[in-house]
Amino acid sequence: MTLNIEYCKNIVSQDSELIGAACRVPYYPLVIKSGKGALIKDVDGNEYIDMLSSAAATNIGHSHPKVVEAIVQQAKEIIHYTPVYTYHESLVKLAKELVEITPGNFKKKVIFGLAGSDSNDGMIKLSRAYTGRSKIISFVGAYHGSTYGSISLSAISLNMRRKIGPLVPDIHHINYPHCYRCKFGKKKENCNLECLKELEDQFKNYLPPEEVAAVIMEPIEGDNGLIVPPLKYVKKLYNLCRENGILFAVDEVQQGFGRTGKWFGIENFGVEPDIIVIGKSIASGMPLSAIVARKEIMEVLEPPAHAFTTMANPICCQAALATINVIKEDNLLEHSKNLGEYVKQRFNTMKDKYPLIGDVRGIGLSIGVDLVKDRNTKERAKEAAAKICYSCWEKGVLLTFFANNVLRVQPPLVITKDQIDKALDAIESSIKEYLNGDIPDEVLKIAKGW
Ligand SMILES: Cc1ncc(COP(=O)(O)O)c(C=O)c1O
Repeated sequence: MTLNIEYCKNIVSQDSELIGAACRVPYYPLVIKSGKGALIKDVDGNEYIDMLSSAAATNIGHSHPKVVEAIVQQAKEIIHYTPVYTYHESLVKLAKELVEITPGNFKKKVIFGLAGSDSNDGMIKLSRAYTGRSKIISFVGAYHGSTYGSISLSAISLNMRRKIGPLVPDIHHINYPHCYRCKFGKKKENCNLECLKELEDQFKNYLPPEEVAAVIMEPIEGDNGLIVPPLKYVKKLYNLCRENGILFAVDEVQQGFGRTGKWFGIENFGVEPDIIVIGKSIASGMPLSAIVARKEIMEVLEPPAHAFTTMANPICCQAALATINVIKEDNLLEHSKNLGEYVKQRFNTMKDKYPLIGDVRGIGLSIGVDLVKDRNTKERAKEAAAKICYSCWEKGVLLTFFANNVLRVQPPLVITKDQIDKALDAIESSIKEYLNGDIPDEVLKIAKGW
């Protein structure tokens, strides 16, 4: 199928003239016009099934009528008055909901922000202030955002970190447990959590645990290819933190808000974090983030150590309250879990047919499909990923890849069975086209990914 994208191309060329390259990761020249549920239309009128949810920021689908209504009502009353100096009811209501739906049967408090990035910065400040320790442990392959603090926590791209130093000091990275690409050559049957020994060794030799404020972990390492850690790893790491007075913080910006079939990804691992960072889907794409932490942690920082003029904007808070209601009323946690199982099953059937698929992993509707040149070497098949995503776009399916080779399958949780089937059929047909050599190399100039 050839798309008519004349107007799209025109906008993209103007954009290239005007917009700084540092904020773009191109896959295809899609210029969005409108969206409903799991469908997106571009400015030329082409329609696409969305398998990306605006980078997991629109879990209840695009422009959900209840969210639109909440936004319009609030905008008519007042757009914003800073909660740094005043109070508003929707902020309090939303904080109550967040305290309720986040794991942890203890007293919690909330601080709002504008994006996942700034709330991760807040997590660093709170952990350091509460423990009186400076060191933070994060993971290789983690993505926590683009502010100085969160970029310092991240370790996924040299481009992100070069030319801008010095970064926030005393942040240390350890390997994320990656069973499919286990650095210790172990299989599930003979794994003794060798990967966690790395941290235990550091604690013995050069990283004094009593100087570590927090470990920050993504419950699934999202942008590094949707890597699901073993349950026993998360539990043991959590206990190690407990034994050493280290806070256990989770970044739920991508995996939260129903994506994994639970409100928060960490609930799949049965541990209760001290600090939870939330963003993206909390307000269905409106700029809002939140830190939810134990009350005693929240009380150590004095004002105005973490305040933003436009934080907890009432329109965003109302959008978030509506989003939470939709997830509850429409049983989207259940839907995500069930549909996620179905999608994994379909990809596993493809895996039986195409050696290009090395691994299918994920929880709920947060699924990664790891494409490899060779199943033994597990060499990443970047070209295949780029070509397949581009070809899917031409077929009306928005699919992206990350970690060079992993197809990112994170559709809105409201996607219907019929839509997901159409999208999966398009992916399979693009895989076949790729294997037949039918997708031209020119595509690689456009679909760069990261
Ligand atoms: C796990 C995770 N944390 C933090 C962020 C940063 O969030 P934002 O882009 O809203 O600042 C992202 C964004 O992709 C993310 O995936």
